[in-house]
Amino acid sequence: MRKFIPVDELARDGRFEKLTMAGGMADARGGRNASSDQSRRSSNRISPNRPNASDGARSLMHGIFVGEIQALEGAGRTCWDFTDDEAPFALKLDMARQCWDEARHVEISARLSDYMGTEIGEFAENTVLFEAACSRDPLLRLAGVNRALEGLAIDVFTTMKEFGETAGDPVLRFSEDWMLADEVTHVKMGSDWLRRLTDNDPERRKNALEFQRVVDKLFSFGGTRSESEESPIGLARRFRELAGFTEQEIDDVAEVSLNSLHETAAERAKSRDDARGAFAETTNH
Ligand SMILES: [Fe+2]
Ligand SMILES: [Fe+2]
Repeated sequence: MRKFIPVDELARDGRFEKLTMAGGMADARGGRNASSDQSRRSSNRISPNRPNASDGARSLMHGIFVGEIQALEGAGRTCWDFTDDEAPFALKLDMARQCWDEARHVEISARLSDYMGTEIGEFAENTVLFEAACSRDPLLRLAGVNRALEGLAIDVFTTMKEFGETAGDPVLRFSEDWMLADEVTHVKMGSDWLRRLTDNDPERRKNALEFQRVVDKLFSFGGTRSESEESPIGLARRFRELAGFTEQEIDDVAEVSLNSLHETAAERAKSRDDARGAFAETTNH
């Protein structure tokens, strides 16, 4: 049986990054083909007028469904795992409220998936959100899950809501809008508690924000989410502001995401050059 190692221990020496990278989250072979896409259109943003739009949206919705289950499990664990000294009772009450929201999101996203013609289990998923939710430190759970991952949920739901708007699909648009309102609240809980719990402990706050940055980078998925039109998912600045992110923090996420996009583009270009070189060598013999 696999030995369970809390995610903050893995993050400390970079193993978390390697683990999730090896798990295919940043596999440059997957997802978009940025350069060839670009030659045909000016934007890669997920939109109904693209030929593969429905598969992209279905896959995203399936990922949301799985993420909602993990967010529900994670918030539930935080209510149970800690004494009131380790995590204040009022924080646990917030997490209990979050469980209620996430349970509703599981139902909404399962039904939306069905509505979009997807079978549950049709797409491969990972369990990184749950692993981040298993940290031994409640503060790291707030930083990694509520701020980094649910911050990403804000970006994804905003993009999906716009997708529903453009496609003229009120079911998708309203469902995403309702879930988005809850996620802004969950991220705000993370922002408020992170500040409250580290009011007199700048070192602890610094470590938590560092962990958040690691998770943010991992979940940039090679630039799938950024402010560039080359990314399928945008960065929802206004909703992040409402969720307690400062302008500087939003700029930081934007920068990490954009760097990730450029790194992936460079990796793809290198892979193409290597393949070209290998092919040329074969044909020369
Ligand atoms: Fe949710
Ligand atoms: Fe949430």
